[in-house]
Amino acid sequence: MRVAILCSGRGSNLLALLRASEANLLEPAELRIVLTDSAAAGAINIAREWGLYAAVVPRSAYHANRDGYERRLLEVLAPHEIELVVLAGYKRILGPVFLEAFPNRIINIHPALLPSFRGQDVWPQEVASGIKLAGATVHFVEQGVDSGPIIIQGAVPVLDDDGPDELAERILRVEHQILPQALAWLASGRLSIENGRVRLEKTDSLESAAAQTLIWPPLNI
Ligand code: GAR
Repeated sequence: MRVAILCSGRGSNLLALLRASEANLLEPAELRIVLTDSAAAGAINIAREWGLYAAVVPRSAYHANRDGYERRLLEVLAPHEIELVVLAGYKRILGPVFLEAFPNRIINIHPALLPSFRGQDVWPQEVASGIKLAGATVHFVEQGVDSGPIIIQGAVPVLDDDGPDELAERILRVEHQILPQALAWLASGRLSIENGRVRLEKTDSLESAAAQTLIWPPLNI
């Protein structure tokens, strides 16, 4: 299954995917291309260091023309015959042109336990809210901000002295585990969607619950 990764920033989730791929943990997924919307994205350097083709399609060239921008993304992807798309820190809201090209084949990582704290720069909001449990979610992408059926969630505690940076760092550790896991399930055809809920094939509901939730650090109570 040929995979494209869309990134806007530093690329630590891209690196986690590359490491998982190198360890043969993503099979049958094959990482083929990284697309970014900005030449400043650190993800480009990571892709190149790992010998992965990277293309920059600057959003700025398309102004308010989202459809035109997405048609250009699809043109860049076309020669690579991409089957699955991973949004790994991609900061744009995708519209129908792109979403309809990959129905139920786009996943996104978000640094919160959705449906709480959608949108960008959520860590200050999470800290200020006083929640005790934060985390990350991988979900199928539907139209809307950070919305779509949830595949896997990882939870971390919020510590008393946490600022946004400390919390973001702790959440990132679970992001790097749950994104490769979700991609491996998707690529191997183990995910189905029923009434907006994701089912992990070949597991009973207790096994699914164990697989689709991660708690770090493990609770020793
Ligand atoms: C990650 O924390 C990811 O969850 C978040 O952007 C960061 C990208 O980091 N995504 C979103 O906020 C999507 N709404 P990375 O470039 O190091 O992977």
